[in-house]
Amino acid sequence: LTAMKEKILAMLVANPEKAVSGEEISRRLGISRTAIWKHIQALRAEGYDIESRTRQGYRLLQQPDLLTAGSIAPYLEEGLKEHLKIHHFHEIDSTNIQARKLASTGAPEGTVVIAESQWAGKGRKGRGWQSAAGKGMWLTLLIRPSILPRQATLLPLLTAVAVVEAVEQIAPEVNCGIKWPNDVLVDNKKLAGILTEMNAELDLVHFVLIGVGVNLNQEEEDFDQDLRHTAISLKLANGKQVNRSQFTGVFLNSFWRLYQSYLQAGAEPILLAWRRKSLVLGREVLIHEYNGSFYATALDIDEEGALLVRQQQQVRRVLAGDVTLRFGEEKK
Ligand code: BTN
Repeated sequence: LTAMKEKILAMLVANPEKAVSGEEISRRLGISRTAIWKHIQALRAEGYDIESRTRQGYRLLQQPDLLTAGSIAPYLEEGLKEHLKIHHFHEIDSTNIQARKLASTGAPEGTVVIAESQWAGKGRKGRGWQSAAGKGMWLTLLIRPSILPRQATLLPLLTAVAVVEAVEQIAPEVNCGIKWPNDVLVDNKKLAGILTEMNAELDLVHFVLIGVGVNLNQEEEDFDQDLRHTAISLKLANGKQVNRSQFTGVFLNSFWRLYQSYLQAGAEPILLAWRRKSLVLGREVLIHEYNGSFYATALDIDEEGALLVRQQQQVRRVLAGDVTLRFGEEKK
């Protein structure tokens, strides 16, 4: 989208209830009525349904349901818009794979790869990720933070907090929380997953890829049979269709605010936010580490995002692994 077209779109998005007059657009943007008309025609060609009425002006009736730079821009905070470079794909293997290619050819921090669908979506630990076309938010953010590799372990937790903040803003009636380290759950089912990959030397981070998948508008049948009991979409949680562009914009705003806060103020504000959303702290959980599993009580997380747990009389620190929550189950 050209900058002017984007500004017109932003004005229409900001006034969903009433028409914005050609006169007002002309005055605020300093362009002619004919120029406005051309931009409106171009927006319509992209799938925006815009009503125009003589003497009243233009009103946006419907946006195309695509996560393009132009459709997300109206929801981004000032400043962030200029900082992000959004690459949109209809279909791709995996946004993480594409983002890695861009990163290795020098793409800057703030590069975002978004796909409507992925045919080889990647989950953690070599698992896959189902990415139904046009139903979720499948994106990867590229960042180049000046931090030590061990400080990067807090980034997935920070990202989970940003997802929860976006859900709270878009669907406040939905109750979601974080299962350590970074799964976002609703009703003990997975709403979102995060796959963070890093390119670093032992003491220097080159770049970090933050892959985020959020299930938004799927119906039951959009998930494969094997996932139906363990996955959930926002729409399945509250019965409402989600505006995916708005969700994505709100998520990117939250992420960027938390990320800047981490770089400037350190771990503590992130830890506080994570603890408030945690589904594990204070609970009996089953810990799966690379070399085995054990039951323990989750006590806290530390500044590297590690989970501190009590097993019998010992406190242990779990830096990598997964946990299973136990609902109403007797301790074995
Ligand atoms: C997990 O919970 O296992 C992590 C899932 C991460 C999925 C997202 S979707 C966008 C990005 N691209 C990928 O291939 N994976 C991540």
